[in-house]
Parts: sequence; C-alpha cells; structure tokens
Amino acid sequence: MNRRLQAIENMIVPGIGMIDVGTDHGYLPVSLARHGYPGALFASDIGEGPLSAARRNAEAAGLGDRIAFQLCDGLALCDPASVDTIVIAGMGGDTICGILDRAEWSMHPRYRLILQPMTRAEVLRYWLVNNEYVIEEEHLVEDSGEIYAVFSARFGGSMKLKDAELYTGAFAMLEQEPLWPAFLAKQHGRFRKLLLGLRQSGREPGRLELVEGIQQELEKESMKYADGTRDL
Ligand SMILES: C[S@@+](CC[C@H](N)C(=O)[O-])C[C@H]1O[C@@H](n2cnc3c(N)ncnc32)[C@H](O)[C@@H]1O
Repeated sequence: MNRRLQAIENMIVPGIGMIDVGTDHGYLPVSLARHGYPGALFASDIGEGPLSAARRNAEAAGLGDRIAFQLCDGLALCDPASVDTIVIAGMGGDTICGILDRAEWSMHPRYRLILQPMTRAEVLRYWLVNNEYVIEEEHLVEDSGEIYAVFSARFGGSMKLKDAELYTGAFAMLEQEPLWPAFLAKQHGRFRKLLLGLRQSGREPGRLELVEGIQQELEKESMKYADGTRDL
C-alpha cells in the first residue's frame, strides 16, 4: 500500500464497521482485514472494473469473505447501522461533497469521516464547516513527491476557518505536522503567483480581493517559519 493510503489506515480506530467509498483496488479494506480490524468491512465503487479488481485482490489475499462489496454511487447501498467510519479518498473535493450530500443519514455524530481530497480541498472544507461538521484532525503525508492532506470530520458542532485555512487546513492543527512548513510554502507560492496574475490582468476585482486576503493570511503564517524555526 502507498504512503497516502497507509496514513489513512493509521487514522482508523477499531469500531463496528468501516466503508471505503471509491475503493478502486480495495487496498485499504484488504489491509485493514489483514491487520485485524475487528468490525465489518465494506468497499463501494461506482465502477464495475474497479470493484472487480477489489474483489480479486481480497480473494487473492484469502479475505474475499471478510469484505462486502457494493457496486453503487457512494454510500447508496450502505446500511447506516453497520458502519461508524466512512473513508472517502482519492477523489476531487466536489465529488466527495456530492457523495456526502446524497447520504443525509451520514450527517450524525456517530460517524467519523476520514477524507482525502485529491483536488479542491477548499470546496470540501467549506461544505463541512457550513454543514455543522467539525474537522477534528488534519494530517499531511508525502507520497511520490506530492503532499496530500488527510483529515477527519464529525457532524454536530461549529467550526470557523479562515479563507486560507479552507485550502490548507486549520493552521493550529497542522503545526505538529513535519510537512507543514513545506506544504505552507507551496500554497503560499501558489497564491503569490495567482495574485500577481490577477493584478497584471486587472480583471476580476472581486476575486483579486479574495486572493489578496488569502495571500496575506498565508504570508503571516509563513513568517513563523521564515528562518527555519518556529517563532512562538
Ligand atoms: C482514484 S480512485 C481512488 C481509489 C482509492 N480510494 C484511493 O484513495 O487510492 C477513485 C475511485 O473512486 C471511484 N468513484 C468515483 N466516483 C464515485 C462515486 N460517486 N461513488 C463511488 N465510487 C466512485 C472511481 O470509480 C475510482 O475507482
């Protein structure tokens, strides 16, 4: 299993059941079964090909009976009583929002979501904080030269994030992450470039203002790491 999926597995705690939505090859549930996860294991995928691959991998590991496979959109076939952990990883943030939106039952504090958006993480964090979710943990993992955000969330609370934190995750939660300074520098560079482009074009004044604000928030946070040491 790659480091990204390993980081997700490390966040899963023993419980009554876990569903891996968009399982593709089924690496996560197979690994959990191998490592003695005590609850029920489910793997769903919208594609017949990926789900067959997952089934084959589970069977090859002698774990075919341990995992229930569901060919469907997101959580459509998931029995709400059978899981307490919902993993949705490796998809765009907007796709993840759609999956959660279509499964209203999952908006309940008994479910811990473990999410790993590949793109548009800001859309997902915005959706979560505007739908009474609290992001409980934020982690960063490096895999094949990329830094990925993996976070957990639970329904039933309120949380505020700065505009910049929608893109990066809450600054305070990320301070303990060894990859945070590198990730922050990357996001800061991205927004500096975006801001420069918007200023030069003179178009989209509303967007310019938003990007300017985010750039300033990232700049301020980056100052703490400017000389390589945390300025406490
Ligand atoms: C790039 S793979 C990610 C696999 C694995 N979760 C990971 O993180 O490595 C995305 C998978 O999500 C599936 N998928 C996309 N939209 C889906 C949806 N709405 N419901 C279920 N599966 C979906 C795709 O068929 C594909 O197998």
